[in-house]
Amino acid sequence: MIEPPRERARLRDRVLTTLTFVLLAGLAACSGGEPSSNDAAPSSSDTSKPPGDVESTGTGTPADTAALTGAELYDLHCARCHATDGSGKPEIALAIQPRSFKEGGFAWGDTREAIFRVISDGMPGSPFMVPFKHVMTEDQRWLVADHVRTLMPKREVVDEDDRILRVADDAAVVRGHLSPIVDGAPMRPRGMLVGLPGDASLEYRTDDVRLLGLRSGGFVDRSDWEGRGGSTLKPLGELAHVVASGDPGPAFLGGDGQPLRAALTTTHVDAGEAKITYRLEDASGATVAFVDEVLRTIETDASLAVLRRFEMRSANGDRTIRIALDPATPRDDFAHDEPIERQQGATIREDEGSATAIVYRSTHDIERVDGDGLVLRTALGEDPTYLLSVFVVADSWTPARLAAWKETLSI
Ligand code: HEC
Repeated sequence: MIEPPRERARLRDRVLTTLTFVLLAGLAACSGGEPSSNDAAPSSSDTSKPPGDVESTGTGTPADTAALTGAELYDLHCARCHATDGSGKPEIALAIQPRSFKEGGFAWGDTREAIFRVISDGMPGSPFMVPFKHVMTEDQRWLVADHVRTLMPKREVVDEDDRILRVADDAAVVRGHLSPIVDGAPMRPRGMLVGLPGDASLEYRTDDVRLLGLRSGGFVDRSDWEGRGGSTLKPLGELAHVVASGDPGPAFLGGDGQPLRAALTTTHVDAGEAKITYRLEDASGATVAFVDEVLRTIETDASLAVLRRFEMRSANGDRTIRIALDPATPRDDFAHDEPIERQQGATIREDEGSATAIVYRSTHDIERVDGDGLVLRTALGEDPTYLLSVFVVADSWTPARLAAWKETLSI
């Protein structure tokens, strides 16, 4: 199965262009030299740097690599980013960290089928994890998928039922189809669940990164990962807080109030924390800011406390943006609780049987924008602006308790 050279050249052009933009260094890895659309020489070195021992296998077309084992194919095509041992410490410098297979970093599922799909089709939106179906035959992709599975940690059986994924000490991120979070809310074909230690999980849509809700207890039933028709994630936690009836508006707006799209770049797990990285794009598709959203739980006597830390940087000089921390109109029991200082504040929202306090603090002056729920306006520059926001779910709130939470948040 040899694909048309044109297609291959185009693939290479795309990869090289992206690498040129995003790689900090290590372009030497692209030993193929300058891309040229006439250069139809069959070669897979356009997407990989053959290590010395397999270089002698020649040009790397599927025919030439027919005798290679899964491990050798992995060394040829994957190791320069994911490392030979699967640790995700790349041989070349990448702007984002590839997955560590050793630590079980599989947001798209760790079954043979799920890994095969990622190898074949790449990860939508990732400039690095590109499709390999034009580079390897189907059989070869299965061999590589099997090899990747040998690099994974032996799965600890944390439940009688191995389909249930629990979060112990390390946060976990899984992506897939999400059913409506509450009746009447839309389906999320591109959804994401972030599980945090302490039995907290957060539900997001990822086509435009927006928090949909918080859950507590359990994490996810991934039984459907085996299926080929896309994966449905079944969150197991009880809903503790739903953002804007499950269908929140844009989380970020420009200074002019126009929505910005949060385009997901990558997710990363580091011990108990999960990090979601995205770009904010205006209506023309231009990037106006970069955001790292780091999530972790805080131990407390409240039933749930999840901290979101936004690290935001302007992409092109100073800018004002608005952040909708909870775009629903809050029933604000502390209506006069304007920021004590210009950099912190809080609001309360009552749900049935429980109340969520959203407490926030920023390194820069923030301003509450009236009318639209908890929307903050702040300025971004080239140095990061940090905004901490904690969702605390508790049975009841008193002004004293709220004040204590504000004290807790320090940057
Ligand atoms: C140019 C660097 C690069 C190469 C080459 C590469 N990957 Fe990746 N891969 C990445 C990055 C970066 C990610 C994470 C992408 C993201 O989060 O946007 C990733 C993600 C993945 C994932 C998804 C894990 C998950 O979250 O479920 C799998 C599986 C994977 N790679 C396997 C492979 C295999 C197998 C190969 C070789 C055929 C390969 N990769 C080649 C950089 C690379």
